[in-house]
Amino acid sequence: MGYKLLRRERLKRPGHKTLYTESEQETERLGERLARGLKKGSVVALSGELGAGKTTLVRGMARGLAIEGYVKSPSFTIVHIYSGGRLPLYHIDLYRIAPEELNTFELEEYVWSEGVCVIEWAEKIRHILPEDTIYINITHEGENRRKIEMEGFER
Ligand SMILES: Nc1ncnc2c1ncn2[C@@H]1O[C@H](COP(=O)(O)OP(=O)(O)OP(=O)(O)O)[C@@H](O)[C@H]1O
Ligand SMILES: [Mg+2]
Repeated sequence: MGYKLLRRERLKRPGHKTLYTESEQETERLGERLARGLKKGSVVALSGELGAGKTTLVRGMARGLAIEGYVKSPSFTIVHIYSGGRLPLYHIDLYRIAPEELNTFELEEYVWSEGVCVIEWAEKIRHILPEDTIYINITHEGENRRKIEMEGFER
């Protein structure tokens, strides 16, 4: 299961877009830009290996939503809530969570919320994600180069 399956499913959907960034700042700016297209109830599922740049992209999205005081989340906290911006932002990081610890019932509240829900390691809760989830996969291509594949933005 996991990423391969997720990717195969994703490739069947239209609106696939791939771009590359050459620095952390560029990825952050991309996140900022993407935030403009986010609306109430948007869900963004992020995948990509450790250090790929998922949190960097979320930091940009937070800025794009005019959220002040975004801090890189300590990895032991699963849900971070940021209010005060254009929309509330729920940043969920499932890296450390074991499948048997997953409380999907609790997570569904954020997924079906009035805010924007961005999930790192989202493949772990693929089965509870809405049909119109935006999928973003980041691949490490070089020291500062990242491939960013997106799907579900153009609708
Ligand atoms: N083009 C780039 N885009 C994003 N980050 C980059 C880029 N080039 C280099 N980096 C570096 O890669 C790292 C990305 O870290 P980040 O915490 O965003 O990754 P992550 O995918 O959230 O990792 P984790 O799975 O551990 O949460 C940072 O140290 C950043 O400086
Ligand atoms: Mg991260």
